[in-house]
Amino acid sequence: MNELDVRLDDVRERFSAAAAGARDERELEELRVAYLGRSGEVTTVRRTIGTLSPEARPAAGKAINEAVAEMEAVLEEARGKLEMRAFETDLASKIDVTYPAIGPPAGSIHPVRRIVEDSCAYFRRHGFAVVIGAEAEPDYYNFDALNIPGDHPARESFDSFWLTDTMLLRPHTSPMQIRTMQAHKPPIAIVAPGKCFRRDAVDARHLFAFHQVEGLLVAEGIHFGHLKGMLEGLCRELFGPNQRVRFRPSYFPFTEPSAEVDTTCPRCKGTAGPEGCGMCGGSGWIELGGSGMVHPNVLREVGYDPDAYSGWAFGFGVERLGLTRYDVDDIRRFVESDSDFLQQLS
Ligand code: DAH
Repeated sequence: MNELDVRLDDVRERFSAAAAGARDERELEELRVAYLGRSGEVTTVRRTIGTLSPEARPAAGKAINEAVAEMEAVLEEARGKLEMRAFETDLASKIDVTYPAIGPPAGSIHPVRRIVEDSCAYFRRHGFAVVIGAEAEPDYYNFDALNIPGDHPARESFDSFWLTDTMLLRPHTSPMQIRTMQAHKPPIAIVAPGKCFRRDAVDARHLFAFHQVEGLLVAEGIHFGHLKGMLEGLCRELFGPNQRVRFRPSYFPFTEPSAEVDTTCPRCKGTAGPEGCGMCGGSGWIELGGSGMVHPNVLREVGYDPDAYSGWAFGFGVERLGLTRYDVDDIRRFVESDSDFLQQLS
């Protein structure tokens, strides 16, 4: 090894060691100037070429150029490592890895579904079966068999979406009363939850697509007290013991006597004076749905003897139950798909 090679090796080694120890970009730049700069160490070595014999000069020049290329590569690598280290330090100062993780958004059971499930669970505990019907039914099941003949004014109150002259989207779940009684002999104890449709103007209490839970009990010796007991129990189950419930005399063609079931208005808490609350119209109550003793004409229609059997029935609006259960003051909240709102109720 000639003298020049020895010097080059020395320069290279010291440069590599210094580059590995450089703490920042500035120190690296100082190194570059000290070794590879115009008056740096490599230049000093290069100047010795003039002292060599002419035959030795090309090899010496080549060796120096190779050393420079190698040193530049070392510099580049050191620069990359420094950048990476700076990035990691920066990241560590910004990210607290001990912070609790935010989980991916998870779905929750919709409040309407929860009410349906809890209502069905309550009735199942009392020996009722759950039945599911079709959302489109002929007018026979929606009206005629329920003691609402073609010319009956009550048809008007079920402002319906008609699909054909005789088929309609069911405006209530009551068709399931007829379907069940025609298929089975008494005693009958069922709940029928499901979606219903009416051409109602949408407001804080009305949707054109909504849910009902229907109930029917037919056996010997059934009376209105059984109905009251079961529905009060349902309200206690869904609302807790303190929510007030009242039965108000009413009319449905398929029940006699009939009663509407009301509960304290969730918006004004029943305090609305005569000037009125927008939700309950000042009465302090909102309607959950209808109920009553099954009309003898309905029992006769399905082939039951009204002298041997009696029964009660009811149909509640599920979203209406939701207003009270979740203390929500507008029924539209349930269909806006606002996941923050829905999650809060779950
Ligand atoms: N089907 C009625 C409605 O949607 C509610 C109803 C009233 C259901 C009395 C019943 C009942 O089963 O007995 O307005």
